[in-house]
Amino acid sequence: MYSKEQIKEIQDKSESFLKYTPENIDTNNIESLRNILRFHEHRYYVENDPLISDFEYDILYKLLEKFEKSNPDKITKDSPTQRVGAGLIKDFPKTNHLVPMLSLENSYDDADLMDWDRKAKELSGLQEIEYSIEPKFDGASISLVYENDFLVRGVTRGDGEVGDNITQNIHQIKSIPLSAEFSKHNIQQIEIRGEILINKNNFKIYNEHLMEEGLPPLANPRNAAAGSLRIKDSTIVSKRNLEGFLYHVSYILKTDENKSVDVHTHSSMLELLWNLGFRSPKKEMKVVRGIEAVIHEINEFEKQRDDLSYEIDGMVIKVNNLDLQDNLGMTSHHPRWAIAFKFKARQATSKLMAVEYQVGRTGAVTPVAKIKPVQVGGVTVSSISIHNEDYIKEKDLRIGDGILIERSGDVIPQIVKSLPDLRDGSEVEIVFPKNCPACNDLLYKPEGEAVWRCVNINCAAQVLERIIHFVSKDAMDIKSFGEANVRKFVEMGLLKNIPDIYEMDLSSLKNIEGFGQKSIVNLQEAIEQSKQQPLHRLIYALGIRYVGETTAKALAQKIKNIFELEAMSLEQLQLLDDVGVKVAGSIFEFFKNEDNILMLKKLQDLGIKIEAEVREQVTGNLSDQTFLFTGTLSKLKRSEAEIQVENLGGKILSGVSSKLNYLICGEDAGSKLEKAKKIPSIKILTEEDFLNLLK
Ligand code: IVH
Repeated sequence: MYSKEQIKEIQDKSESFLKYTPENIDTNNIESLRNILRFHEHRYYVENDPLISDFEYDILYKLLEKFEKSNPDKITKDSPTQRVGAGLIKDFPKTNHLVPMLSLENSYDDADLMDWDRKAKELSGLQEIEYSIEPKFDGASISLVYENDFLVRGVTRGDGEVGDNITQNIHQIKSIPLSAEFSKHNIQQIEIRGEILINKNNFKIYNEHLMEEGLPPLANPRNAAAGSLRIKDSTIVSKRNLEGFLYHVSYILKTDENKSVDVHTHSSMLELLWNLGFRSPKKEMKVVRGIEAVIHEINEFEKQRDDLSYEIDGMVIKVNNLDLQDNLGMTSHHPRWAIAFKFKARQATSKLMAVEYQVGRTGAVTPVAKIKPVQVGGVTVSSISIHNEDYIKEKDLRIGDGILIERSGDVIPQIVKSLPDLRDGSEVEIVFPKNCPACNDLLYKPEGEAVWRCVNINCAAQVLERIIHFVSKDAMDIKSFGEANVRKFVEMGLLKNIPDIYEMDLSSLKNIEGFGQKSIVNLQEAIEQSKQQPLHRLIYALGIRYVGETTAKALAQKIKNIFELEAMSLEQLQLLDDVGVKVAGSIFEFFKNEDNILMLKKLQDLGIKIEAEVREQVTGNLSDQTFLFTGTLSKLKRSEAEIQVENLGGKILSGVSSKLNYLICGEDAGSKLEKAKKIPSIKILTEEDFLNLLK
């Protein structure tokens, strides 16, 4: 879409704009600044290949924003600043599609495709047909209408004829241009169809965020995208980092009736859309002749399915020639010129047989559905977390229900929905227990939270989970202890609490199957070695709610021994790097509990190191600067990058806050980047910028 010369020119101009202030910028240059911003948005959101850092982009964006603020009469409706959420949408108005949104016929194997090809050949009288093949994007379908080069509306599929007008939310999707030069191609009005997606990485981040808040994760990126499009507050939509793929033109009104629009194939239409700034599947698309070649390409593509940054559920095969598409026409349901090929389902139906309740190390009680074992996406699933009481109600789950489950990509299996139509009356309501399934103490649900908790910290189930966590690899790393052994030792009465690990009579294991002299010696050595683990591992191993490895490291750096945390006030805790209100509260609670202090004293008596290592004051050019990495780095592994920072005296934080100095963004950076953009003191760097900084 841009030539090398144009790109060079834009880069030069970007640099010169970086020196401007809103006061000295020339009004005549404003459109040029807008074009520069549009160019960089396109590089970032469509091509996935930014040419400037986010930091520099922000300077340019703010320059335009300030200029427009003082010159409101100069604002254009397609200015990059006009994507900003315009507040709440009351209800989505219903809007007719210009052309009904038909769906596609599905195919599942080679025979289906050959059959379809045979019919198309018969109808057209051709010996061989040219097809284009592209991914079947698994998101929420939409149609966009541009008139006189401007985006005038975005509409959901709805019932195919009428959908919800979600234009304001579509404005939040940066890969969708607010204007495009259709008029240059003799197009006055155009309706384009596409799919809105949330990429796998952003989906994962979004789900992590939900779970941190104690909310259940979403089953798949499709639901996340569809749900996001229907949010009434477009400023929230903007935070979801949605992406739009446009793959079909359903209607064109020409500017000059006597001239043609010079596009004759689907592939060149995708090319045109791409050149006009849309993220069409131009790069993913393949054009081949004959159905055998189609089948070959589909097989090749399926191999890459898991490597793509977004979910696809199959491929779409289209007759490439647009006249031939017209000739083939459509049935009452589907176009005859296209067919969807569905990949192996990652969904399956099963039956909810029973619900068990698991008590975690912090006392959270999680209901787990035991289901009739079923294969999904290559694994057998027999139990699925159903998160909390509200989730059970929301999904209307009952014991005995038919259920639809999904295992999308590397997301843990989820129940998509129950199948109430299959009920025969024998289904039983799920009643959340009032008492802890392990210790029978009354459960408690704090106001505003969704999770029921057992607050008896001596509850056997919690103790068991805490010991499992304590010995685990990222915590005290007591090799050959492991979850199975902890369970066994607890059952045998050898382990009742964490200090018991260091006091267990290992010789009594001799009579147990699987414990020879050698494994007892190994276990003993591992237990002994763990006494010298660095302090941050001990802090993490305690399993304090919200204290992950990074926070544990940050804490360990600030104290000389673990009992200093006991002496700190809530306010002092909050002043530490990486510690917000919630985390501080949790640490404070932990150290206020006498039993916990007694346990720590006991560990100290047993020889476990509770002091921080004597640190040589690391001074480097990153001294006292704080860093956080997000997204996928291409040159360095994240762990390597973090070590480099620490070697130069810098610190790694686990979240975005005003305590953060630098956010380094790799590919597909998501919510952290959005959050950081709102805190002016944070410098947002690309991996390249970061490497330069190290130099
Ligand atoms: S073409 C008139 N191309 O899959 C046909 N559809 O069941 C226009 N979809 O409703 C659709 N990726 O929402 C087309 N590359 C692609 C697609 C695609 C996903 C969706 C679309 C459609 C459904 C078909």
